[in-house]
Amino acid sequence: MFSLTDRVAVVTGGGRGIGRGIVLALADAGAHVAIADIDLPAAEATAKEVEARGRRALVARVDVTDDESIRAGIAAVREAFEGIDILVNNAGVVQDHSDAQVDADDFDHCFRVNLRGIWAMTSAVVPCFQERGGGKIVNIASIAGRRGGALAPYSASKAGAISLTQSQATALGRDNINVNAVCPGLLWTPMWEKLEGIFVGDTHSDTVSRRKVFDSYIQASCPLRREQTPEDVGQAVVFLASDGAKNITGQALNVDGGIQMN
Ligand SMILES: NC(=O)c1ccc[n+]([C@@H]2O[C@H](COP(=O)([O-])OP(=O)(O)OC[C@H]3O[C@@H](n4cnc5c(N)ncnc54)[C@H](O)[C@@H]3O)[C@@H](O)[C@H]2O)c1
Repeated sequence: MFSLTDRVAVVTGGGRGIGRGIVLALADAGAHVAIADIDLPAAEATAKEVEARGRRALVARVDVTDDESIRAGIAAVREAFEGIDILVNNAGVVQDHSDAQVDADDFDHCFRVNLRGIWAMTSAVVPCFQERGGGKIVNIASIAGRRGGALAPYSASKAGAISLTQSQATALGRDNINVNAVCPGLLWTPMWEKLEGIFVGDTHSDTVSRRKVFDSYIQASCPLRREQTPEDVGQAVVFLASDGAKNITGQALNVDGGIQMN
């Protein structure tokens, strides 16, 4: 039921971290995958892993804040695969500074990547879906978007991503396009390491100490007492992109071990 055999997926930020986990889960389910990222070496390494699974892969240099690079990237995907069935808007950034020090550029960049980036990618891909008679969009938000707290720009951009998911689901349902969000919880990726640098600063500058802080967050906040992984998020995306989820749209699914229960 959750097979994606020969579907074509585009994953933004698919080179590393959660995006890489999503790409590999889609490939394991049978999809061919285009990796749209600004980090080409990471994207090329992940593309090789897709090909090792017997699927086709394409790397497109796409900056989701740059409309021209989106247009060129989507054109390259269409030329290579003759269509697109699945879009995963995963590319995201966390702010560079704590809320006390965040500046307007930092705030704007968070919103341009995490929110406008979803809108711009979706706008570029929807005509391809309309030609195919439908499609699936999965937006990667965050549990930080469920409730405001520390990280004001990041949390607000992710709350916006959940709201945008609902608006897009409303507007695109008539075109047989499902739009859902996944809200990951706590994952040890390069983004998390940066976050901890902002939060705990130099006191825990080495990886071993940062890992301890991360583990203590898990134990304190997560009912299942285990960290979440890119593979976990990938499995949720495969489900939402599959025919098994054909009547699910406008939803946000937490993959967080029970940290948020709404
Ligand atoms: N790590 C976590 O704990 C966590 C928790 C909740 C949500 N998320 C969300 O999951 C997604 C992936 O996070 P991650 O932890 O893997 O982050 P990461 O920093 O490890 O990876 C982000 C990826 O996005 C790419 N990217 C950044 N800016 C881009 C741009 N302008 N255009 C195209 N690609 C761009 C990067 O090159 C990288 O490949 C993000 O949307 C993030 O907000 C992460």
